[in-house]
Order: sequence, then C-alpha cells, then structure tokens
Amino acid sequence: MSMQGKFSGLLKNWVSVAGIFLGATALTTGTVLLIIDASRENLSPYFGILIYLVVPGFLAGSGLLVVLGMLWTRRRMHRQGYVPRLPVIDLSDRRTLSRIAFLGLLLSVFFIVSTLATYRMYHFTESVPFCGMICHQAMNPEYTAFQQSPHANTSCTECHIGPGAKWFVKAKISGLYQVYSVLFNKYHRPIETPVENLRPAKETCLACHWPTKFFGAVLRTWTYYRTDEKNSPWTITMLLNIGGGNPAHGPIRGIHWHMEGVNTIDYVATDRKRLVIPWVRVTDQAGKVTVYRTTDDKTKISDGQAATLPQRRMDCIDCHNRPTHQYRAPNEVLDMALSSGRIDSSLPSVKAQTAKVLAAKYKTQAEALTAIDRELRATYAGDPRVEATIREVQSIYSANFFPEMNVRWTEYPNHVGHKITPGCFRCHDDKHVSESGKRISKECKTCHTILAQGPGKDLPAFTSSGLDFQHPEDVGEDWKTERCDTCHTGSP
Ligand code: HEC
Ligand code: HEC
Ligand code: HEC
Ligand code: HEC
Ligand code: HEC
Ligand code: HEC
Repeated sequence: MSMQGKFSGLLKNWVSVAGIFLGATALTTGTVLLIIDASRENLSPYFGILIYLVVPGFLAGSGLLVVLGMLWTRRRMHRQGYVPRLPVIDLSDRRTLSRIAFLGLLLSVFFIVSTLATYRMYHFTESVPFCGMICHQAMNPEYTAFQQSPHANTSCTECHIGPGAKWFVKAKISGLYQVYSVLFNKYHRPIETPVENLRPAKETCLACHWPTKFFGAVLRTWTYYRTDEKNSPWTITMLLNIGGGNPAHGPIRGIHWHMEGVNTIDYVATDRKRLVIPWVRVTDQAGKVTVYRTTDDKTKISDGQAATLPQRRMDCIDCHNRPTHQYRAPNEVLDMALSSGRIDSSLPSVKAQTAKVLAAKYKTQAEALTAIDRELRATYAGDPRVEATIREVQSIYSANFFPEMNVRWTEYPNHVGHKITPGCFRCHDDKHVSESGKRISKECKTCHTILAQGPGKDLPAFTSSGLDFQHPEDVGEDWKTERCDTCHTGSP
C-alpha cells in the first residue's frame, strides 16, 4: 500500500528549514551590499571578497542544505511507505495563478539581481586590487613593482589575460589553481618565470604598442657613482637605435628589427630561464633561412640536440620580460637616487655602504629595515644627513626586495640591455656563426651611438659621429672579450 504526501512536505525538516533561512539572509545581505557597491566607485577588495565570494558561497550552501534535507526526508518517507505527490498545476484555480505570478516576480527579481551581481563580479575579478591584494603575500612583489612602472595606469589583466572569452576562461581556471596553492601554501617562492602560459605578446602588448609606431632612436643618459670614497660620478649619454617597424618608411632596421611578421626568429634555450641560447634561426621576409650556432664549447649543442629541444618564437617578451615587474639591482637604483639628489653624494663612500646593506640577505622586510637603520646609523654616527639616507634606502628596499618571497634582482634577470645580465649578449656575442660565416654582432654601434662619456655628472660636448666606448676602470681588453655581467653583477 502506498500513501500520497504533499510535495512541499519534503521541506518539513530542520536541515531544509535552516537552508531556507540561511538563503534568505544571504540574499537580503547580498542585495543590500550590492546596492552599496553600485553606488560607490572604488570598492575595497575585502568588500569585494565579501559580496562576490562569501555571499554567493552562502547562497550555494543554503541551496545545497535545502536539497539535502529534501532527499533525506524523501528517504525517510519512502521507508515509511509514503510517495510524495508531484504538485499539480491547475490554471483554472485562482490560488495557483497568483502563486505562479508571485513565483514569476520573485524569479525575475532574482534574475535581475544576479545579472547585476555577475557583471560586477566579472569586473571585480578583473580589477588590479583583486589580482594584487587578494593573494597579498604571493603577489605583493608584482603589485608593488607594477604601481611604480610605466604601466601603473593599465591593469594586470591587459597583459595577463587580454581580450576574448577563451583566455578569460583559461585565466579563471588557472586562477582557481592559484587560489588553491595560496590557501595551501603550495606556491613556489619566488614565483617561477618565464610564465609558461603567458598570452602571446602580439595579443596583449600590440593592443597598445604598434611596431609601426617605433622609429629612429631614443636618447638615454646613465650617471654611475663609483664605489670609491668620493662616489665619483661617471656619465654616458647615448642614442639607442630603436629602429622602425614600418616598411612604408624604408627598410626595417635597428633594435625592433627582430619582430614577428618582420623577421621571424626561433631559438633554442638550454635552461629554464632562457639565458643560454646556443641555436638561433632567422627567417626573413623573403623566406630566406639562416641558422646561427654558438661556437662556445661550454654551451654548444649539435643540430640533433637542437631538433629535440623546444623552439621558442621570439616576441616582445624575449627582450621586454620586465616591462612592469622590475626589481632593480642595488647599483642601478642607488645611481638613480644619487643622481636625483635623494641620497647625498657627498657622504663618504655612501654608494658602497648603501649597496652593501641593500644586497645583504635578510629573512623578512621588517628585519631588513631594522638592519639598514642600525648599520647606516653606526657607519655615519653623528652626521645629520644619516636620517634622510636611512629613509631613502629603506624605501628603496621596500620597493625592490621581498625576502618573504625570495624576490630580488638576481631572481628575475632583465633581458633589455647587457650590463648586469646576459640580455642581448645571449645572442649578440660574436660567437654565434652562420654557415656562411656571418656573426650575430657584438659591435657596440649596432645598437647604440655614444654621444658623450666621462667623469662628472653633466657632460657638455655632444658628438654626432659617435664615440668609441671608454671603460671607466682599467680592465685591459676584458670589457671587449668578456661578457659585461662576468664582472658586473648589480652590487659590489
Ligand atoms: C605591461 C604588462 C603587464 C602588466 C600590466 C602586469 N604584468 Fe605581470 N607580467 C608581465 C610579464 C611580461 C611577465 C613575465 C615575464 C616572464 O615570463 O618572464 C609577468 C609576470 C608576472 C608574474 C610572475 C612573477 C614575476 O614577477 O615575473 C606575476 C605573479 C604577475 N606578473 C602578476 C601581475 C599582477 C598581480 C599584475 C597587476 C598588479 C600584473 N602582473 C600586471 C606583464 C605584465
Ligand atoms: C593597456 C595598454 C598597454 C598594454 C597592454 C601594454 N602597454 Fe606598454 N605602455 C603603455 C603605456 C600607457 C605606457 C607609458 C607610455 C609613456 O610613458 O609614454 C607604456 C610604456 C611601455 C614601455 C616604455 C617603458 C619606459 O620605461 O618608458 C615599454 C618598453 C612597454 N610599454 C612595453 C610593453 C610590453 C612588452 C607589453 C606587453 C607585455 C606592454 N607594454 C603592454 C600601455 C600598455
Ligand atoms: C630585440 C629585443 C626587443 C624586442 C623583440 C622588442 N623590443 Fe621594444 N625595445 C627594445 C629596447 C632595447 C628598447 C629601448 C629600451 C630603453 O629605452 O631603455 C625598446 C623600446 C621599446 C619601447 C619604448 C619606445 C620609446 O620610444 O621609448 C616600447 C613601447 C617597446 N619597446 C615595445 C615593444 C613591443 C610592443 C615589442 C613587441 C612587438 C617589442 N618592443 C619588441 C628591445 C626590444
Ligand atoms: C635570440 C637571439 C637574439 C637576441 C636575444 C637578440 N638579438 Fe638582436 N639579432 C639577432 C639576430 C639573429 C640578428 C641578425 C643578425 C644578422 O643577420 O646580421 C639580430 C640583429 C640585431 C640588430 C641589427 C638589425 C638591423 O638593423 O639589421 C640589432 C640592432 C639588434 N639585433 C639589437 C638587439 C638588442 C638591443 C637586443 C637585446 C635587447 C637583441 N638584439 C637581442 C638575434 C638576437
Ligand atoms: C645587441 C645590441 C647591443 C650591443 C651589440 C651593445 N649594446 Fe650596449 N646596450 C644595449 C641596450 C639595448 C642598452 C640599454 C639598456 C637599458 O635600456 O637599460 C645598452 C646599454 C649600454 C650601456 C649602459 C648600460 C647600463 O645598463 O647601465 C653601456 C655602458 C653599453 N651599453 C655599452 C656597450 C658596449 C661597450 C658595447 C660593445 C662592446 C655594447 N654596449 C654593445 C644594446 C647593445
Ligand atoms: C673584467 C671585469 C669587467 C668587465 C668584463 C667589464 N667591466 Fe665595467 N667595470 C669593472 C670594474 C672593476 C669597474 C669599477 C667599479 C667601481 O668603481 O665601483 C667597472 C666600472 C664600469 C662602469 C662605471 C660604473 C659602475 O661601476 O657601474 C661602467 C658603466 C662599466 N663598467 C660598463 C661596462 C660594460 C658596458 C661592460 C661590457 C661591455 C663592462 N663594463 C665590462 C670591471 C669590468
């Protein structure tokens, strides 16, 4: 014998009732928060977490409770011989009609609210604070560096996701894994680079920078402070031969010569960081192929080995791998602070002393800041300029060193340039030779024209013909034969 019970009877259990209460509370709270959110421009990331992660979590949880409770009651009723009756819809019944109307109203409110919420949630998970602050510790270095970079006014997603649904979904899936690795402390410190699944540069960088826009040369000046007692300045001014990428303006030359679509370059690297490049293939616009192989005995590989290793097609990131997350070396950042006067260059040996405290290893930022204060105070005891120096060095430290994440300049070598990293000299070392004997040139004038150089801060005379490089310290011919980064590491 089977007895019939009302469908709604399934809801009569504590679990479902608790679920309904929870759901109603979450819905009301969510709606109120959503209204607050819609009326404000800059929402705090924590507010965002609450409204777009916690509230939906509770809503989903409450739904689950309701269903679980119903299943549980159904099993119990089954055991007692009841069969719940499905609700009968009788449109001629006024009560049913008004119930349907009420349900319809409720659903449309729910629909509007959830559409609005989804839209705001999309924006929230794409925002810089979401990326930079949710995983505060893990992303702190990138977030801090980003805020001081030329890209501070763009957003993380413009380089890391870009337009289109496919990459959006990819990013959210890998994002889930990232949330997991942060929650369970599984992430690598420092975060490993190169980022394997970075979206190809032509789909991100090129949205804002067109190769046809580059032309000519840019003027750059470096003022260095030596590690002697007088912190002697040495200045170099040069034109960097950026070159153009617009065939309409004549043949493509200069630094932006290696760009996909202009000249296609594929290379093989034998290390994860892509610092050792023994094999390079160029396909020019006419389709002519030239392969350059290193003649260096230590890094040389055979064609057979080259064929089995993954090939990478060169794009913007193979030079601009640090367009926005730059962790500067002590020497670089101190030279900037000294030349702008933020550190007084008349303090004896201040370059060497400050570089030493910056480069030392610490466990936490807090420990470093205390040590910087202590060390410099001891070195310059009684000098009134010490306070300002300490403050500047501490601020340099906080912006470029993240010991909790093991982040410092040595972990993320910048490929633009060649003084303290292999950079351009990974290929341009005069040791990569083609079958016809052509070399990837190390000739200084290929890439830049020195206009002025020498001791002092402000150099007068400019030469238009270009000067031969003069190495500030006598190291014989070594600066010509060795890579600069064999001696220059970025710190004393
Ligand atoms: C101008 C483009 C650009 C912007 C904007 C940008 N990134 Fe990056 N980011 C990169 C590139 C390029 C790399 C990696 C290069 C590589 O593979 O070596 C990178 C690497 C990273 C890495 C890996 C570790 C590292 O330091 O290289 C993290 C984490 C990261 N970005 C997070 C962020 C966050 C968070 C934001 C926003 C606050 C952001 N990025 C904004 C271009 C960008
Ligand atoms: C959303 C737009 C946008 C995207 C995407 C973007 N950039 Fe930029 N980039 C800018 C802006 C804005 C500047 C600052 C221009 C200025 O200072 O004149 C800039 C400046 C630069 C500079 C000059 C930096 C300097 O020190 O003066 C380089 C190099 C650069 N971007 C490379 C890249 C690379 C590589 C990518 C891709 C990973 C990229 N950008 C993606 C907008 C963008
Ligand atoms: C072979 C290495 C290399 C490649 C590949 C490369 N660049 Fe550059 N780019 C440079 C160098 C070097 C500079 C000059 C850096 C400086 O000013 O210190 C530069 C300068 C720039 C600038 C600043 C220009 C200015 O007028 O100040 C932008 C923007 C830029 N590159 C974007 C890109 C984009 C986008 C791509 C990819 C399509 C790209 N670069 C590919 C090496 C490269
Ligand atoms: C993956 C290897 C590779 C890297 C890394 C690389 N280049 Fe090149 N570069 C080449 C090759 C190959 C050529 C063509 C050599 C030839 O045929 O003369 C070339 C040519 C050039 C030229 C001459 C273009 C012309 O006008 O004909 C310049 C300038 C240049 N590179 C600058 C740079 C700079 C600056 C960097 C670093 C930011 C750099 N390259 C990094 C491989 C590389
Ligand atoms: C393949 C191109 C290329 C060649 C060859 C080259 N350079 Fe450079 N050099 C660069 C680029 C690009 C920069 C700019 C780096 C930056 O913007 O930070 C640079 C920067 C420099 C600087 C300033 C460095 C700094 O970061 O403080 C000096 C000094 C210099 N080059 C000297 C030389 C000398 C000497 C030679 C010849 C032995 C040489 N370069 C050959 C591309 C090249
Ligand atoms: C054999 C080692 C060695 C090589 C190789 C070398 N240098 Fe140096 N360089 C030195 C020494 C030592 C000093 C003096 C440092 C000081 O006074 O603090 C110096 C100083 C300099 C300075 C002045 C300021 C400073 O301390 O940064 C510049 C600029 C410089 N070198 C550029 C280069 C460039 C560019 C290359 C590669 C083309 C190069 N050097 C290769 C050893 C070397």
